[in-house]
Amino acid sequence: MTEVIIVQNEHEAAQIYANCVAQLIARKPDAVLGLATGSSPLAAYGALAERVREQQLDMSQVQGFALDEYIGLPLDHPESYHSTIHRTVTEPLGLDPAKVHVPGDVLHGMALNDNGEAMAAAGPNYDQMIADAGGIDVQILGIGTDGHVGFNEPGSSLVSGTRIKTLAEQTRIDNARFFNNDVEQVPTHCITQGIGTILKARHLILLAFGDAKAEAIEETVERGVSSFCPASALQMHPHATVIVDEAAASRL
Ligand code: GLP
Repeated sequence: MTEVIIVQNEHEAAQIYANCVAQLIARKPDAVLGLATGSSPLAAYGALAERVREQQLDMSQVQGFALDEYIGLPLDHPESYHSTIHRTVTEPLGLDPAKVHVPGDVLHGMALNDNGEAMAAAGPNYDQMIADAGGIDVQILGIGTDGHVGFNEPGSSLVSGTRIKTLAEQTRIDNARFFNNDVEQVPTHCITQGIGTILKARHLILLAFGDAKAEAIEETVERGVSSFCPASALQMHPHATVIVDEAAASRL
């Protein structure tokens, strides 16, 4: 069932996420957090970092699993999701870097055609690592303007596991802002948790702000479940929370 919460702004949304995760960590010190990149979760990570300081939460056992990664960027590229998660989550929350994982960590620096076997194994291995950690307790999600979650673009199987995908042209255009506004510099492929992987998390929290997301949010919560809006799969999850501002909620 999808619960929709309309907030004034991203800071209010951030407090809801921070409360939820701080309570989780207080009762389960080895909590497993699902992590996302993009601008939507940044305030939420900031609010959680504040909560960690105020409540002096022990973060040493907390584990993190990121949703996705580009293929073909070196590990230390500032826009690799490995670097982004380190900068925006691992450091501010004081997580143990050895306990924070990004899919395709073994693939950094490889081009798509370098090693077919490693490319094929990386997804199933990542899903196994998540299972071995006991599954994800809280997965934070953003949403693309075309309804993608992670990098599951429209048309993605709703039961997919982690795998290599081609990026949609619209997503490359949307993400060119991180690559000197040059779409040619945006990688063409990625590795992403599948929709099936994401649905296994025990609680999903999707954040969306601004009118550019309004149509995707309408399709996510008020239209039928369809692979053409991968985020609509949240309707099949027993505990999904969609937190939106008035602009992103304007078509509901
Ligand atoms: C990227 C990420 C997604 C994210 C989306 C939206 O494509 N792979 O996980 O949800 O961007 O980003 P933003 O939150 O900046 O709008």
